[in-house]
Amino acid sequence: MPRFDYLIVGAGLFGSVFARQMADAGRKCLVVDKRSHIGGNCFTENLGGIDVHRYGPHIFHTNSLRIWNYVRRFAEFHPYRHKVKACCRGQLYSLPINLLTLHQLWGVTTPGEARAKLESVREPVANPANLEQWALSQVGRDIYELFFRGYSQKQWGKHPRDLPASILSRLPIRLNFNDDYFDDNFQGIPIGGYTAIFEKLLGGVDVRLGTDYFANRGHLEALAEKIVYTGQIDRFFDYCRGPLDYRTLRFETQRLAVEDFQGGAIVNYCDADVPFTRITEFKHFQPQGRRPLHTAITHEYPMPWTQMAEPYYPINSSANDAIADEYRRLKPPNVIFGGRLGSYRYYDMHQVIASALAAAEHELADPAHRRPAAGIFHTVTNCAAPSQASSDGHVVANYANGGNLMASEAQANWHTGGDASVACNYLLLGPEGRELARNVILHANGGIYTDMHHLRTRRWSRLPSVPNALLCGGTIWRWSDGHMTTTNLSALPAQRWRTGKLRRRVADSPGAGPGCAELRPQPPVPSDRSKFEIVVAKYREDVAWTQCYPDNTTVYCKDPQDSRFISLPNVGREYGTYLHHIVSRYESLSERTFFVQGDPFFHRPLAFCHYASAQESFKFDPNSRQTMAQAANWGWADQTADGRVKAAFLRLLERRWDITEYRFTWGAQFAVTRDLIRRRPREYYQKLYGISQLPEITLAGRRFDNLHIGFLFEFFWESIFCGQHTPQGAGGKADNQETGRCTN
Ligand code: FDA
Repeated sequence: MPRFDYLIVGAGLFGSVFARQMADAGRKCLVVDKRSHIGGNCFTENLGGIDVHRYGPHIFHTNSLRIWNYVRRFAEFHPYRHKVKACCRGQLYSLPINLLTLHQLWGVTTPGEARAKLESVREPVANPANLEQWALSQVGRDIYELFFRGYSQKQWGKHPRDLPASILSRLPIRLNFNDDYFDDNFQGIPIGGYTAIFEKLLGGVDVRLGTDYFANRGHLEALAEKIVYTGQIDRFFDYCRGPLDYRTLRFETQRLAVEDFQGGAIVNYCDADVPFTRITEFKHFQPQGRRPLHTAITHEYPMPWTQMAEPYYPINSSANDAIADEYRRLKPPNVIFGGRLGSYRYYDMHQVIASALAAAEHELADPAHRRPAAGIFHTVTNCAAPSQASSDGHVVANYANGGNLMASEAQANWHTGGDASVACNYLLLGPEGRELARNVILHANGGIYTDMHHLRTRRWSRLPSVPNALLCGGTIWRWSDGHMTTTNLSALPAQRWRTGKLRRRVADSPGAGPGCAELRPQPPVPSDRSKFEIVVAKYREDVAWTQCYPDNTTVYCKDPQDSRFISLPNVGREYGTYLHHIVSRYESLSERTFFVQGDPFFHRPLAFCHYASAQESFKFDPNSRQTMAQAANWGWADQTADGRVKAAFLRLLERRWDITEYRFTWGAQFAVTRDLIRRRPREYYQKLYGISQLPEITLAGRRFDNLHIGFLFEFFWESIFCGQHTPQGAGGKADNQETGRCTN
């Protein structure tokens, strides 16, 4: 019987995160690394008070709140936002290319001038096949020659014509002064360096350093049931399908007796005849108060890789990827490949953490590796049969699978009659539970989600909270004092089952008991943020539900006490936040953005997947078609929106104002495509954003405060995106047609 559950080859980020997760789940891991230290390429050493990243500068950045929260369990982060300068032909420029760079190059001073100049120099190519074509088609020859040609050639040892466009195509080209190197919401440098993170990740785990897996393969493999391998994938198979290509680096670190060598953390050197690609001055990563009077810098020299050198970068050409695929197909069942080299993928740290967490979750979900864990129960999919406790210490809850429901409405509509009201939450643990949670917009952090506060403060104040409870298959499961108790609700009158989208099962459908509710599974939303992004406007709402979409969500927060999210001044309502996002991210919007308030459940949202995969370029749940003549009064007599007010508002929005009907954007929730947004210039949204910041406006002689301007936006989001533009002063019918529903 092997002594360890897992032999983990590599004490880098993948191996260490995997080891932590497994150790926390009670598994025994042995970690080996051929280097004399833990931390892999993130290794940091302290040189006279400066945290030097021995294998090149490492800036942590992610858009995933889940990953950000995870890594902050192991370190405090200095909120550093990465800026880079470029040195080309003896001149310094701002990077990535932004309005200042274009000013430095061409003297342009406004976004309009910059756009026009770029248009005039671009050499359009419909489908750029390589890095050179991509650069020429985006920025023209001068910029390509200055910034990209020499640098890429040095970095990769190949002419840009022989490099894939994907190397550069994620680099932003901005027409404003934003010079952030990364767009990500969460960025920082761990105070005290990365190595301390690894010490915590590997706390309590057996680690053997200076141990090469290949020098001790037979012996090491006999020690564990499974192998997690984060070294080169081709070497694992003794290069039997041929060697893969890598790029290596030489680092030259010097300690200098000057206080500040270059004024910032990184300067790139773009010219082909300068042999290094960048100089890093590490003290600039540290908070001001922690910088000594001397400095330390590292020159970075890219070099061809040989089997004696460290393989820092996989070179993901199509030929190499095909070979790597062949190796993946050879993978024995007891082996897990992970990390940059084991996956042969150019991963940043947040991606490595995400993939290690996913691998650990997958392992723990595998029935062959599952062990009873006291006090934990997991859900399994089975929609018909009644739920039961199983013999292995788990409670197996049969949930009527996945669905489009809101906890609040489910809670609000559950009554047992009289004072014994029942309100339910859904406890979803284990991978299936998390998958369900992702589908039904519930809490997925392994905890129990009770979200009763707004019910108490609004209409349903007499409902008591029932914490630690799960509603599934017509049964309430309650967890208390280490025991599950169940209450069967099938005797309830049928109508009491109503929730927003929770459908009552017809009594005679197979396997269904009376009153058994069916929640329909929904496909997960795409996790690629460039395709679908959820933008949340929050004040003090509990946005725990966003953890179901850790990779897609951007939360803006107007609560000055809460620094966990992107802070905005506490002015205006959600419409200002939405417009802020559009203005600030105009150049880097996702293909489709879903805008939503912090607590969307009070309204009736569609399933998030519907927003993600809509046919329409503007997707929302209209509560009805309203006539313009219909007066809306929100309880403030002087703020009634009648037809004249609405027309005046549309005029302000430069939208057609002589329409007779509109559809109200229920709950201020809608998804809109990037293409639709960009039919209008950024300046247009900037103007609307200006309106959102006003304390009040006057429309048709009536004053509307900021709250009610918000309602007016809800009337007309569809018109803003889909309606035809009416230049100010011009009027309605003659020059425009309202498009009504938008389609792609
Ligand atoms: P990593 O290479 O860190 O660890 C693998 C470990 O396996 C190594 O310690 C190695 O010694 C060990 N190993 C291999 N073969 C072995 C064998 N036969 N026996 C025993 N041990 C073996 N990311 C980011 O988010 N922001 C950034 O700014 C940067 N910057 C950056 C700069 C440079 C120059 C590089 C090269 C990389 C970055 N990165 C980055 C990427 C980051 O370094 C990377 O995502 C992670 O370190 C990858 O972690 P892994 O565990 O996959 O590999």
